[in-house]
Amino acid sequence: MRPELERIYGRLGFADSVIYSNFVSSVDGVVSLGSKPSAGSVISGRNPADRFLMGLLRAFADAVLLGAGTLRATPGHMWTPEHIYPDLSSVFADLRTDLGRKPRPRLVLLTRSGDIAVSHAAVIGGATIVTSAAGGRELKHRLPDSCDVIEIGESGPIDLSRAVAELRERGYAVILTEGGPHVMGELIEQGMLDEAFVTISPVVAGRDGDPRLGMVAGAELLPARGAWNRLLSVRKHGDFLFLRYGMKNS
Ligand SMILES: NC(=O)c1ccc[n+]([C@@H]2O[C@H](COP(=O)([O-])OP(=O)(O)OC[C@H]3O[C@@H](n4cnc5c(N)ncnc54)[C@H](OP(=O)(O)O)[C@@H]3O)[C@@H](O)[C@H]2O)c1
Repeated sequence: MRPELERIYGRLGFADSVIYSNFVSSVDGVVSLGSKPSAGSVISGRNPADRFLMGLLRAFADAVLLGAGTLRATPGHMWTPEHIYPDLSSVFADLRTDLGRKPRPRLVLLTRSGDIAVSHAAVIGGATIVTSAAGGRELKHRLPDSCDVIEIGESGPIDLSRAVAELRERGYAVILTEGGPHVMGELIEQGMLDEAFVTISPVVAGRDGDPRLGMVAGAELLPARGAWNRLLSVRKHGDFLFLRYGMKNS
């Protein structure tokens, strides 16, 4: 890793083929603020150390995988290292060169409905949309030329293991997912997530009626099936905690 980055975070590296996630959570386990946009930024209070880590984790990735729900909830965002932490843009770019990565991680969007805002800056910037043939019909004619579509199955939800196999075939071996919770639920339930980075922001978000999701939704694990994990590292910056877990998938 580049010394400028290692001085800030310490050593970091990944297997050649891996799926890892990054979330920021409140102390009381909230990662989404219901219908309110940009929950991650609000929950972290735009904390610079969290934004640095987001940039660093994006800088390692061939692709950033998102559910369409997170795209819809985060207008104007670009899932690139330089967007989240511009001060270190050139160092992140150098890291990507060292790792043999393309200049930017490819944004990969999962959608069943095909309801993707084609005017979203991140879509205009270029994305691979993974959907069914039915979703593709809904979408294809509207997409900018910077985008491509992978169609899996005729309709309904995509089998994520097939989606990831297709991505790997296209050279996207190191995959970061920034969610959201429903995509996390599927990845964890299917034993596909290798590592989880969790930032604990020192804020209490609270809940009252409006559903405020935790890091996993749509998958009930305990008590029948506990996803017990290994704690790989703990870092602290001010009042923030930065945790890295290795997932036990067997
Ligand atoms: N705190 C954090 O770090 C953080 C990180 C990420 C997200 N968030 C928050 O999480 C919330 C969004 O999360 P979410 O769980 O509602 O949404 P999500 O997981 O991002 O997206 C769910 C959508 O993804 C598509 N999808 C998921 N699995 C699919 C499959 N197997 N096949 C086809 N399509 C699939 C579907 O899109 P269609 O509806 O188009 O069919 C589904 O409705 C937002 O509030 C966001 O701000 C927080």
